[in-house]
Amino acid sequence: MARRAIVAANWKMNGDLALVDTMVSGLKSIKLQENVNVVICPSSPYLSALVVKAKAEKLNAAISIGAQNVSEHKNGAFTGEISTQMLQELSVKFVIIGHSERRSCYKETSTQIAHKVNAALIAGLTPILCIGESEAERATEQTETVLAAQLQPVIDEVGIEKFIDVVIAYEPVWAIGTGKTASSEMAQDTHQFIRQFLAQANESVAAKVPLLYGGSVNASNCEELFAQADIDGGLIGGASLQAEQFKIICSAAKGK
Ligand code: 13P
Repeated sequence: MARRAIVAANWKMNGDLALVDTMVSGLKSIKLQENVNVVICPSSPYLSALVVKAKAEKLNAAISIGAQNVSEHKNGAFTGEISTQMLQELSVKFVIIGHSERRSCYKETSTQIAHKVNAALIAGLTPILCIGESEAERATEQTETVLAAQLQPVIDEVGIEKFIDVVIAYEPVWAIGTGKTASSEMAQDTHQFIRQFLAQANESVAAKVPLLYGGSVNASNCEELFAQADIDGGLIGGASLQAEQFKIICSAAKGK
């Protein structure tokens, strides 16, 4: 199997210590298909508790912990920021970078996001690089231009060969938290574009990069989405806060 599947939970600014317990207990009995990784990304105050609980409950080794953001700086006077070293020390393995909420609410630019991806890779963390177009950009047929402009600065900074250690999450902004999922056909077409775009730089790397779909994924639509040729799992928001629903989504993923 050439490509692993990944289902990542992005709790955003939700959840509490009780959810840490419920989620770990719920995932204890999960049966994952071959070549699947699950990543739980809670808010940073809960990372430590989740790591401790996952270890205590001997969670399946295919289940990892991720952060929702990381600083591009090594350390120093950056109040409120979290460094790659801090995440490493907590045994965090993945980090979401460039989520559309970070791009829009906190004005993160594609250049800054490229610096963050670089910092994560240097520290041995797997970046889950998020890209996606707005509703207006989709309506005016700018989707491919926007996605290319989000990807290129990262390729330029880290080099395409390093994408072997990168996960990309395509999240159309208009599908996030709205209940408006992209149709499986539309999602597949866009994932195919992303893979072809990477393939222009390096075909063999492009064939191996897991491409996740995000935006209103739930227990009812995950199977059809994950069955698409270029969709290798999902980045799940709302539905990842409910252990039972999240388990169904994780069980639907399969390496390709
Ligand atoms: P929803 O699944 O709630 O639409 O959120 C998607 C998302 O933004 C995950 O990062």
